[in-house]
Amino acid sequence: MEHLTPRQIVAELDKYVIGQRDAKRAVAIALRNRWRRQRLPAELRDEVAPKNIIMIGPTGVGKTEIARRLARLADAPFLKVEASKYTEVGYVGRDVESMIRDLTDLAVNMVKGERTKSVEGRAEELAEERLLELLLPAARPVPPGFEPAAPQAPETREKFRKMLRDGLLEDRVVELEVRDKAFPMVEFFPGAGMGQMDVNLQEMLGNLLPGRVKRRKVKVREARRLLAQEEAGKLIDMDEVVAEAVRRVENAGIVFLDEIDKIAGRERATGPDVSREGVQRDLLPIVEGSTVPTKYGMVRTDHILFIAAGAFHAAKPSDLIPELQGRFPLRVELQPLTRADFVRILTEPENALTRQYTALLQTEGVTLDFTKDALEEIATIATGVNEATENIGARRLYTVMERLLDEVSFEAPHMPGVRVEINAAYVRERLQDLVRNEDLSRYIL
Ligand SMILES: Nc1ncnc2c1ncn2[C@@H]1O[C@H](COP(=O)(O)OP(=O)(O)OP(=O)(O)O)[C@@H](O)[C@H]1O
Ligand SMILES: [Mg+2]
Repeated sequence: MEHLTPRQIVAELDKYVIGQRDAKRAVAIALRNRWRRQRLPAELRDEVAPKNIIMIGPTGVGKTEIARRLARLADAPFLKVEASKYTEVGYVGRDVESMIRDLTDLAVNMVKGERTKSVEGRAEELAEERLLELLLPAARPVPPGFEPAAPQAPETREKFRKMLRDGLLEDRVVELEVRDKAFPMVEFFPGAGMGQMDVNLQEMLGNLLPGRVKRRKVKVREARRLLAQEEAGKLIDMDEVVAEAVRRVENAGIVFLDEIDKIAGRERATGPDVSREGVQRDLLPIVEGSTVPTKYGMVRTDHILFIAAGAFHAAKPSDLIPELQGRFPLRVELQPLTRADFVRILTEPENALTRQYTALLQTEGVTLDFTKDALEEIATIATGVNEATENIGARRLYTVMERLLDEVSFEAPHMPGVRVEINAAYVRERLQDLVRNEDLSRYIL
């Protein structure tokens, strides 16, 4: 996945997002540039700054969807945040640096997950040995002064191993010692914002209060999982995991800043005292490259790629503070969706709405059959309502489809084996009245 060419990236995105060629190309190039940069000699590598992107486009045309799908493709730490949820440093709320901390957390989990997977086999072997110890009481150390029980014959152990593997002992109960690390963090800091302060404090307290060791009785199937987890933990070098995670964040991290337009504009607005310009100013050093303290150490943000997105209805990109504008040199516009796009969106993406509904109702034994003219009709209605009321892009298809299939969705359990053809006539019959009455469609569609 990590070496996808721009063409391949666009092709992957095409599976989920219709149209929006420019935006797809821009993110594909940005992603590929990360890879190119990795292959440069060290001196040059540090000179190459990522070309941050702003995606501009009306609501519901695929901005977030492109980012979401890119996240799956990029074998890179990827965080999606809403710019509007941050507050200026010094105010209650999340400060912008927390996005880097979140991204690092995410990368640590990602690397840890990978490493765990790679030692899975070994961990399972070790867990099996420990399970055998638990199942064979004679194998336990005997207190001094006592005669050991009958020496544990290797054959017995192998017999148990076989039974274990054949799944014959799954419901046996064994007693395990489990470390109970979790302690109620929340109560230590009631109402505290997840500020920087608690980063180290949490760590410290975590170390001060060693996890309580609890004895627990569990069934073999659960014990196997717990033991394998513990063994895997011992096999992975956490320092190395952290180092790799930080390296990945610094070199390949991607932050998707949604709703960037909500912090554009210079007036002191929104909530009491919270200034949007303040948030932009806080954002600036992070986007420009600075060092953010995290519980995994300092993380440099110089080469993290930022993709911002916004509808920019009221505000314009030029309403962002100039310094920030300069850090987002690439602007791509997403196009409003047409009726023809709607027809394709209804059927083509791997998660297309018609597929979703068909699969959902299939679970009740009801077969949905959408005819071509029905799709045209649905697209026409969605476009019409978007024009007449408010243009919410492809999201309109959700409301229209829900309304259209309301009856079938309700009655499905009582009509197993039935095949329902959704044709243009059906669509018109179900929706025409609503569409004709603009007031009604404002509320319902
Ligand atoms: N071009 C498209 N192709 C396929 N599906 C789309 C497209 N555009 C939007 N959708 C669907 O519509 C829904 C909303 O899209 P998305 O979340 O990407 O909107 P957005 O552009 O981020 O809007 P907003 O500005 O409101 O955040 C998603 O579920 C997505 O699947
Ligand atoms: Mg969005």
